[in-house]
Amino acid sequence: MLTAVRERDAYANLALPGILRRHRLRDRDAGLATELGYGTLRAQGLLDTIIDACTDRPLAKIEHALLDALRLGAYQLLRTRVPDHAAVTTCVELVRSDHGSQSAGFVNAVLRRIGEHTEAEWLDRLAPDPAEDPVGDAALRHAHPRWIAQAFADALGGTGEELTAALAADDTRPRVHLLARPGEITAEELALATGGEQAPYSPYGVHLEPGSGDVGELDAVAEGLAIVQDEGSQLVAAALARAELLGEDTGRWLDLCAGPGGKASLLGGLVAARGGTLDAVESSEHRADLVRRSVAELPVTVHVADGREAPLPDGGYDRVLVDAPCTGLGALRRRPEARWRRRPEDIATLTRLQRELLVAALRHVRPGGVVAYVTCSPHVSETVGVVGRIIGREGRPGPAGAVDQLDARASLPGEVPGLGDGPTVQLWPHVHGTDAMFLALLRRPLEG
Ligand SMILES: C[S@@+](CC[C@H](N)C(=O)[O-])C[C@H]1O[C@@H](n2cnc3c(N)ncnc32)[C@H](O)[C@@H]1O
Repeated sequence: MLTAVRERDAYANLALPGILRRHRLRDRDAGLATELGYGTLRAQGLLDTIIDACTDRPLAKIEHALLDALRLGAYQLLRTRVPDHAAVTTCVELVRSDHGSQSAGFVNAVLRRIGEHTEAEWLDRLAPDPAEDPVGDAALRHAHPRWIAQAFADALGGTGEELTAALAADDTRPRVHLLARPGEITAEELALATGGEQAPYSPYGVHLEPGSGDVGELDAVAEGLAIVQDEGSQLVAAALARAELLGEDTGRWLDLCAGPGGKASLLGGLVAARGGTLDAVESSEHRADLVRRSVAELPVTVHVADGREAPLPDGGYDRVLVDAPCTGLGALRRRPEARWRRRPEDIATLTRLQRELLVAALRHVRPGGVVAYVTCSPHVSETVGVVGRIIGREGRPGPAGAVDQLDARASLPGEVPGLGDGPTVQLWPHVHGTDAMFLALLRRPLEG
């Protein structure tokens, strides 16, 4: 898995099932392989800092396959209960069989040096002084790139205990969340059927314990009654469906960035119950196919188009979702390798696209209708930064004309705590147990 991620830019969660099948790993063996692969990828930057302290060779000069073995060994020594001698021996033998005795000797020496201290002891030696660099210290301790820890600090408004809690929660394997598809099954029935627990906030959510096996094998999922969907995604989609319109809801809804179709599936179920329809736009042909599969039998029409210029009516919709392409910094716990792959340089291109999609959404919504702007990132440039540029400031309208910002907290179902002063909503893993989803609700004023 480490090789596939490094060489082919593979997504670990997509590569894993094939690897487990090829090596005929099931049950506890599959669980251990998953934990070692995901854990090593998640902790990569921290492991590299410690490896670097244990060798004179610069990391960039270490052969890739040896570095993979060192990371895997270091992860087992520092973060698992695998006995030290077993961790070292398996990695060394792996290297010996593929790369010879000299490389095996090198890996053996570095791993033995790493095993001389615990993770906490290494961190005390290597982390920056928290009084001088609190973000750098928290970033290393919780295995995040510094720029992402800084982005969390900016969104949280501080570098104290809350930053530590946010990074720690983001470094923990999350529970699987299921969506009980409206009209198909209730959350109560789904919890009973799966042995899970009803979600605390979403009326459609069920939580499963981490490591509860292959979710696809659950009857309710195999039969299409439920899908895997983070509770935060459920909440922001439900908020759009509940937001207060001016005038009647005529049941014309639009999802402008629909692939792979999670929120379209929830919105499609909700609009169907009201006798309405959903148009779902997705620019990628392959992802549009995934949307079609997720909304089969719902009153949803899928369009392959660029959401900035989709051939759909201006002023034609009561409710529009822009679940914008983003850095995904709010969902890092579900994608072990993602934090080391994303680059801060991605942000400028993404925020331009996000602004253009939001302007298009405000064109498609009717006067009195509501647009939900959503990201699975808490980065302030992608959240309040985008919204601020579009709605204008100090009484001057922005590029989309007059827009009223609603208090998005009021449209969430249930009593969701820890939402600050509004009007936007920022969810967090350490507060809500959800991905760090962002939501702003914007309403077009009635004309004249
Ligand atoms: C954050 S994902 C949406 C997730 C989706 N709403 C769900 O719940 O499953 C953003 C999607 O927007 C698509 N996308 C990117 N650029 C786009 C554009 N210009 N117009 C429409 N869709 C776009 C991406 O391919 C991706 O599928």
